[in-house]
Amino acid sequence: MPESLEQKIIRSYQLNADAWTEIIAKEGIKSRQLVTNKAIVDAVLSHQPVDVLDVGCGEGWLVRALIDQSINATGIDGVEALVNSARKRGKGIFEICQYEDIEQCPALAPSFDVIVCNFALLGEQSTQDLLSACANKLVLGKGRLLIQTLHPLLVNSSPYFTGWKEGSWAGFPDTFTEPPDWYFRTLEDWLAVFSDAGLVLLGINEPRHPQTGEPASIIFNCASV
Ligand SMILES: C[S@@+](CC[C@H](N)C(=O)[O-])C[C@H]1O[C@@H](n2cnc3c(N)ncnc32)[C@H](O)[C@@H]1O
Repeated sequence: MPESLEQKIIRSYQLNADAWTEIIAKEGIKSRQLVTNKAIVDAVLSHQPVDVLDVGCGEGWLVRALIDQSINATGIDGVEALVNSARKRGKGIFEICQYEDIEQCPALAPSFDVIVCNFALLGEQSTQDLLSACANKLVLGKGRLLIQTLHPLLVNSSPYFTGWKEGSWAGFPDTFTEPPDWYFRTLEDWLAVFSDAGLVLLGINEPRHPQTGEPASIIFNCASV
């Protein structure tokens, strides 16, 4: 059977695990240093959570940042090499888990005050499955799902339709290889996928780039219905 686009995302991060770990360690993605890292940490802290799950945690920087703020943070990711890299750094609990298996992941607490996805929702079906599972893993009433992703208005998407986009590592070092295609959603379709998953959108943040004034990302703040 040919490899699906969803499988290619995981394979690409497996191939690029070392390069990814290195660029994060070197603080090599400018927009993250200038805007989006602080934006997502502040968004999580604003809910004063005790237990946080970082989904698609990569090499684990966000889990470590939250632990530094005395939060119980756990990270999951489908790429073994990234989880191993996160574990090596010593702080936090990290598990290998693909989004479609999250409900079977034995190490996870039954519910979290905040579940956070930082630039980690790249697929179509995997995102739908994950969001439905997250809706069931939020603490009743006050639990929040925070998703930071590319701002739909700033993705070069003409015509403006939901669908798979060709991947690119433009702006990344030559050590990055085989960029995965990724699934773009219009704002309308983000709202539809939240609703299908049993989530309601409570608000958005649009962190701005201090030099260009453009939104550097969008952060969706969701609760379960
Ligand atoms: C752009 S990286 C972001 C990593 C991290 N959240 C950060 O802020 O640095 C996307 C991450 O999502 C993970 N990922 C994507 N699709 C996944 C899936 N279906 N199951 C598990 N992990 C997935 C990748 O392995 C990768 O670590």
